[in-house]
Amino acid sequence: PQVTVIGAGNVGRTLAQRISEKNLADVVLIDIVEGLPQGVALDLMEAQGIELHDSQIIGTNNYEDTAGSDVVVITAGLARKPGMSRDDLLQVNAKIVYESAQKAIKYSPNAIFIVITNPLDVMTYLTWKATGLPSQRVMGMAGVLDSSRLQTFIAMELGVCSADVSTMVLGGHGDLMLPVIRYCTVHGVPITELMDEATIERLVERTRNGGAEIVKLLQTGGAYYAPASSASLMVESVLRNQSRLLPTAAYLEGQYGLNDIYLGVPCRLGCRGIEHILEVNLTDAERQALHVSAGSVRENLNIALA
Ligand code: NAI
Repeated sequence: PQVTVIGAGNVGRTLAQRISEKNLADVVLIDIVEGLPQGVALDLMEAQGIELHDSQIIGTNNYEDTAGSDVVVITAGLARKPGMSRDDLLQVNAKIVYESAQKAIKYSPNAIFIVITNPLDVMTYLTWKATGLPSQRVMGMAGVLDSSRLQTFIAMELGVCSADVSTMVLGGHGDLMLPVIRYCTVHGVPITELMDEATIERLVERTRNGGAEIVKLLQTGGAYYAPASSASLMVESVLRNQSRLLPTAAYLEGQYGLNDIYLGVPCRLGCRGIEHILEVNLTDAERQALHVSAGSVRENLNIALA
């Protein structure tokens, strides 16, 4: 199989590395900057004999070279600088994402699209519009990352392995995201039995600010290792038809009482894209929080579509 990664910056190149080193697919890395994707691809290829994988990685500035891809991942656009919110990226990234998606679909009409560029939920909606694909074939990556951040913080707090911690973060990829604590467990034991309320609240806040925490430390841009891992998990579930149940930005048509919006909800991902949207029970307060998060995505969506 072949995966096109649009944007050869921090997230795009790290994702290309993950995909190739896991032997998931060949990668076509495309960017507007001449020489950049070619250089990154060559550098990655020069490690192939050491890392021992079979994936071919090529870099290009030309969409013709992306033809026939099974999955297209969009990472093109600006990343945050310290003090910026994801929403500050809206206008610039909307144009980049819309145009990139239009060009990519022309050469890969059968692809599944996975969007990473921020503000995530709005960019995913724009990609759906730009490609004209059925909504099941366009999805956004955010919930896997936000959930893995919460997973990490819980694991660090309890001194257990992250793999033993199961978390669920729903809603938009912004400050109003909804970590659903009732569904967070350590091997089935609710974390509410393992930590006091104040500790949980602290970890929830840290998760909501998880992206900003890294932006502040790096000073030069945003996170990319965990984002690339998160995206590669989704790519893998699609390419290998694994049916992983992952929090994914999906197009809602009545689920959770929401319509005509992309928002993070638990989805089963397989070779047809989003194969099922799981509607978990939410308390009134959780449902309200999800709707508040959706409201803020909607505001940005209206600006982007205007
Ligand atoms: P970066 O600045 O390192 O890379 C972005 C790349 O996009 C650059 O190489 C740039 O030349 C390229 N680019 C710009 N316009 C383009 C176009 N029209 N066509 C092709 N390439 C183009 O940024 P980074 O760190 O890789 O982040 C990329 C995006 O992903 C940002 O918007 C960031 O906020 C978002 N992000 C989202 C996450 C999520 O959970 N959804 C997590 C991490 C990052």
